Amino acid sequence: LDIKVANTGGNATSGKQYGIMFEDINHSGDGGIYAELIRNRAFQGSAVFPSTIEPWTSIGDAQLSLQNLSDPLSSALPTSLNVAASSGKVGISNPGYWGIEVKVQQYNGSFWVKGNYNGSFTASLYDYLSNETVGSVEVPSNASASEWQEHSFTLTPEKAAGVNNTFQITFDASATDGSLDFNLISLFPPTYNNRPNGMRPDLMEALKGLNPSFLRFPGGNNLEGNDPPYYLKWNETIGPLKDRPGYPGTWSYENTNGLGLVEYLHWCDDLGMEPVLAVWAGFYLDDPVIPEDELQPYIDDALNELDFIMGDQNTNYGALRASLGYPDPWTINYIEVGNEDNLGGGGSSYESYRFQAFKYAINEKYPDILVMASTADFDFAETEDAGEDYHQYTRSDYFVSQFNFFDNFITGFKTMIGEYAAVQPNIPEGGGTDWNAARWAFPMWIGTVSEAVFLIGAERNADKMFGAAYAPLFQNLDSYEWAPDLISYSANTSADVLSTSYHMIQLMSAHRISTTLPIDSPSFDPVYYVAGHSNSSDSYILKSAIYNSTETVSMSVTFDGVSEGAEGTLTVLTAPDPFSYNDVGSDVVKNTTISLTAGSDGVFEFDLDDLSISVLEVKA
Ligand code: AHR
Repeated sequence: LDIKVANTGGNATSGKQYGIMFEDINHSGDGGIYAELIRNRAFQGSAVFPSTIEPWTSIGDAQLSLQNLSDPLSSALPTSLNVAASSGKVGISNPGYWGIEVKVQQYNGSFWVKGNYNGSFTASLYDYLSNETVGSVEVPSNASASEWQEHSFTLTPEKAAGVNNTFQITFDASATDGSLDFNLISLFPPTYNNRPNGMRPDLMEALKGLNPSFLRFPGGNNLEGNDPPYYLKWNETIGPLKDRPGYPGTWSYENTNGLGLVEYLHWCDDLGMEPVLAVWAGFYLDDPVIPEDELQPYIDDALNELDFIMGDQNTNYGALRASLGYPDPWTINYIEVGNEDNLGGGGSSYESYRFQAFKYAINEKYPDILVMASTADFDFAETEDAGEDYHQYTRSDYFVSQFNFFDNFITGFKTMIGEYAAVQPNIPEGGGTDWNAARWAFPMWIGTVSEAVFLIGAERNADKMFGAAYAPLFQNLDSYEWAPDLISYSANTSADVLSTSYHMIQLMSAHRISTTLPIDSPSFDPVYYVAGHSNSSDSYILKSAIYNSTETVSMSVTFDGVSEGAEGTLTVLTAPDPFSYNDVGSDVVKNTTISLTAGSDGVFEFDLDDLSISVLEVKA
């Protein structure tokens, strides 16, 4: 295949081509990137998921019961755990999110107690396989029945002890009046950038490896809620943890809301990502829609959220932000109105009044924000001068057939691919996903290559595309609702599973095209490609993916202005077969990087196999 790349005449890119999308699904927040180790730390519950003692168990003769005291820890956390015993050493034990990994490092913990107790608590990490306490600390207490008291501690185990550990708090029951009440029992390992209430370093490092330019949050379906009155309310995710009530997420578990709005913004800060903030837009997943004449409070709420993030301290919500310890505002340049709000019963109301009501109000106050519709209805977005969010979960053949999908979209970096993944094997009749059929457990190589073809198609349309994010991002292998996912983990796995698609995105994202460059008479199938120039490395780039080739393809590539002797680097990703995938402990993706020198007339020659993904980068 001869590819001749011109050196002028292309389109600038958004600069944000690769980002990430996050919602709490698969225990990706609680039990995932949010570093809290204690599961069910505050007995949060709702009509959907009533409060439970699970997974807490008692130590000694203690009787455990949930109580809704007349003077709870806070109105947000009305339920607490009563631990009753008349004598002896008693307490409570928690196994964490299916295991607590113990390392020789400092753990920061705290818990609230109500009840008379003049003694000390022992906070410890306990290895239940070897029946051994692997780290403990005494926490002096003069707790009182008249008020809730917070107890804080640090704990540094003497030795590492795997993941089969529980966290325990014990006390001398004879020094109480017969019981104590506990709430908000928290334990954090070191976090990324040492942020309090922060993130797991290993998962943050994995994300950093993707060089992501934006974070779309906080959903996904999880933004929307299933039925009234539950949807993800931003103002219930800010401030002290004792003031966050939690939320019955749409993915079958109660969310703690410990990972909240400020934590998302810190996440953006820490990885240099542009926030793409989704606001609730009056549509629940089970179809109730807020009528037009009742929508205003929700629009006001979105504006209040923006005020909280961006307002100076003279505004009500800017002042609230400052009072919580964040005097400096953040900037929001991108907002998405809802999530897939064009679906189901939401569809007609979205395009007839809901989207417009939010967009007009937001742009009236913030004219520079690009407001995105949570639909890829191209005509609608164009009419409304809006952005759009295209989602695609499909099969490999279908993704490849969409190589040209964005060719006629609107210019202006307005189209985000907010979610995409190849999720099922091809079927003879072709077509997209069968939502009643099983999906792949992990991304498969053939799917990964098809995603690369689709993304290359998006990159060719540089002037239209904002960027793309795979979804879902994370999967806790001990409890999840959706597969395949980009990154998987478990307390019981020594290393996180970086999927085949992770490796593909890492390669595509690491080689950023600043301006696409035209290719002389391009023809695609089985080789799909895009060329461009990178300003940061001052180099020419050719990205390609090969799908369904019956033979090895001999490539012959020239870049206008690059002559004989020029040096290039070719990186090629391959895998043993189309259905190779990365599982716990395995990595099937082979990364081959070689140096190439341009021959006569500046030609770079190399061979590429079927189902390979490659990047050729040549210094300008
Ligand atoms: O990524 C999983 C789900 O797929 C998202 O929550 C939703 O937006 C989409 O339908």
